Amino acid sequence: MTRPDYAEKIPNNVGLREDRRLQRALESWQPNFLSWWETMGPTLPTQDVYLRTAIDVRGEGWAQFGHVPMIDYRWGIFLADKNPDRRVAFGQHKGDPAWQKVPGEYRAELQRLIVIQGDTEPASVEQQRNLGATAPSLYDLRNLFQVNVEEGRHLWAMVYLLHAYFGREGREEAEELLHRNSGSADSPRILGAFNEETPDWLSFYMFTYFTDRDGKYQLGTLKESAFDPLSRTCEFMLKEEAHHMMVGTTGVDRVVERTAQVMVENDTDDVAALGVIPLPVIQKYLNFHYSVSLDLFGGETSTNVANYYTAGLKGRWLEERRKDDHKLTDDAIMVDALVDAGDGQKSISQVEVMALTGLNTDLRREYIADCAGGVKRWNRILEDAGLPQRLYLPHVAFNRKVGAFAVIEASPAGQQLTAQEWEHAKGQWLPTDTDKTFVRSLMHPVYERGKIAAWVTPPRNGINGQPFDYDYVHLA
Ligand SMILES: [Fe+2]
Ligand SMILES: [Fe+2]
Repeated sequence: MTRPDYAEKIPNNVGLREDRRLQRALESWQPNFLSWWETMGPTLPTQDVYLRTAIDVRGEGWAQFGHVPMIDYRWGIFLADKNPDRRVAFGQHKGDPAWQKVPGEYRAELQRLIVIQGDTEPASVEQQRNLGATAPSLYDLRNLFQVNVEEGRHLWAMVYLLHAYFGREGREEAEELLHRNSGSADSPRILGAFNEETPDWLSFYMFTYFTDRDGKYQLGTLKESAFDPLSRTCEFMLKEEAHHMMVGTTGVDRVVERTAQVMVENDTDDVAALGVIPLPVIQKYLNFHYSVSLDLFGGETSTNVANYYTAGLKGRWLEERRKDDHKLTDDAIMVDALVDAGDGQKSISQVEVMALTGLNTDLRREYIADCAGGVKRWNRILEDAGLPQRLYLPHVAFNRKVGAFAVIEASPAGQQLTAQEWEHAKGQWLPTDTDKTFVRSLMHPVYERGKIAAWVTPPRNGINGQPFDYDYVHLA
């Protein structure tokens, strides 16, 4: 079966009806999820929102669009189609049939990987909960809520796996996913970037560009997993994730485009007083979101990740397109490192390590290349406007809290700095309180159909073929 069953209390395409125990367990988690949504989800009161809902897991018509009250959104469990012939594509079990059950020896590791992924999904909803109050248009407001309901669904995706395959411990972890909260002093979310607030819409666009994109790469590695239900879950999540990427990419496009217009019209770089975000401030936001997202890839080397790979739990990005033996036991990779430069000094460099231990670097490299694509398109907007300024990705050593460069300070150009030099200069590279206050001062809600805030251009296309001035959201 592939088509979700919407007659059920929990829409699903996993035959939940045939497993009464699992169905009861998930139905008793459902009210906890809904009360989490009401207390930690979007704060702006709305009547309904033009949302897409999955009605299939493949093909063009996989989603249906319509106005729905958010609390009535049909969060469900949808896995991509099963390929009965699927085989493990890498590691020591390469060539074996994919696993339909969790092997006892990998139970703890698989559960941990699912919990860490699951923790990020509701975290982003919490981070973004107040953004509705300052939405630049109804179109943007709708996209925010679409991303939010789908991150909620991604939580369901992970909770399903925990309930279905990890017994009592899995059910306890599912509860914990609702108890931890972004930024909480007592029980914060697991990963650092998911405890940062998303206080304004430039942050939201940067978050959906850089941090959601990290999610895309993490899901890409789990989609390769030998544990087939995890693979199929992630495959469908990636389908939904594409929209989140679009929100980030075109969101930053539209900010850069508006700033460029005002710069050209007024023949000045000094556009803050003209109500748009100056390019250096956009660059600082980019620097921040990119560097905290790099931290999500973990250390440059990791024996845990080597073990996950060898065991078949987590593959590489596009594993099956790689032209090697998919075991990597004899291969090497260059990774970023601090190396001794004599007289007690360390310098930013690279060292060769076993390919298996360098897998975080491999994934991060794919991610960085993808991020460079965004910078290229934003620079094309500047170029087309006839402006000489350009945006850039800062050096990997810049502003890092995880990995080889966590112990040093470096400029966006990759020059090592003393602690004192860093303190002195960091306000040129990361958003200062003044920058944040300024950006926040531009954030006035625009809830009128077809209208847009002054600091951003309208989108080129609406949602699902609707025009920009469509009534995407009805406020309460
Ligand atoms: Fe997600
Ligand atoms: Fe996402």
